[in-house]
Amino acid sequence: MTHQAFGAAGPAVSVIGQGSWYSEQGDRREAVAAFRRGLDLGLNHIDTAEMYGDGRSEALIGEAIAGRRDEAFLVSKVLPHNASRQGVRAACERSLRHLRTDRLDCYLLHWRGPHPLSETFAAFEALKQEGKILSWGVSNFDEDDLDEALATAGPGKIACNQVLYHLRERAIEHAVIPWCGKHGVAVTAYSPFGHDDFPATGSPQGKLLAEIAAAHGATPRQVALAFLTRQAAVFAIPKAGRVAHVEDNAGALNLPLSDSDLARIDAAFPRGRKPSSLPMI
Ligand SMILES: NC(=O)c1ccc[n+]([C@@H]2O[C@H](COP(=O)([O-])OP(=O)(O)OC[C@H]3O[C@@H](n4cnc5c(N)ncnc54)[C@H](OP(=O)(O)O)[C@@H]3O)[C@@H](O)[C@H]2O)c1
Repeated sequence: MTHQAFGAAGPAVSVIGQGSWYSEQGDRREAVAAFRRGLDLGLNHIDTAEMYGDGRSEALIGEAIAGRRDEAFLVSKVLPHNASRQGVRAACERSLRHLRTDRLDCYLLHWRGPHPLSETFAAFEALKQEGKILSWGVSNFDEDDLDEALATAGPGKIACNQVLYHLRERAIEHAVIPWCGKHGVAVTAYSPFGHDDFPATGSPQGKLLAEIAAAHGATPRQVALAFLTRQAAVFAIPKAGRVAHVEDNAGALNLPLSDSDLARIDAAFPRGRKPSSLPMI
């Protein structure tokens, strides 16, 4: 599967997307080219946030998607301290200006902060009514936060929960993924390569990934992404500032891992016990 519905009623979005944290810090031309190459390869899910480079990552993406807005499923995030009723509107309008677009496909609360969820969600709903955002969701929400969010918003409103998920951090498998599956909420895995902490080639974990990859004519990172997105309604958004990297990541879109592959990865990267709070970076 290369694309699937984003949330209960959302459009088809690429299972592998494109992150953008620190994208403004590398070679700008290469980063713009990487996002465009990603779109060519069907990676339409582009993730950013007002926090990333103080809007400079959004501006870079605005440049990358110029003339191609309709191809992208564009996600941005409001900072918690801006998530008041009026603050959300101002932040969204800034993000739209940086991105040079009239709408976001999905707008997320980056993590929980000082403002009541009822205020933030009311602001999201108002922006949705006006067509400035087409859907909204949350990020870094644990099971109890999701219960509260659902009780506040009502069913069918929350499109997505974006959370930390990589081979060495599988905490969301305990409760968050099942909760989201039950309530039709998309799970977006951020930092799927551990924010540049991918198992080294010569390590036992690295060797296992390389062995499975070789059997499929694939690469270890493709195997990791395929493992993380093995369950329905889970998406992953690796950040790639280079064309070669985005091409590599796109190769995970069509990589069916066998039950035996999944079991070997599961054993090499144990899920561990449910932590007392949801890990985030
Ligand atoms: N909601 C949240 O709180 C939150 C938190 C963290 C991240 N995020 C989102 O999730 C995205 C991804 O997470 P992340 O940026 O933390 O880390 P990541 O995607 O786990 O790792 C990014 C690193 O992997 C490298 N890379 C990517 N593809 C590669 C490939 N095929 N081969 C070799 N290296 C490769 C990148 O290098 P190059 O850049 O040089 O290509 C970069 O150094 C972020 O960019 C952001 O959009 C959200």
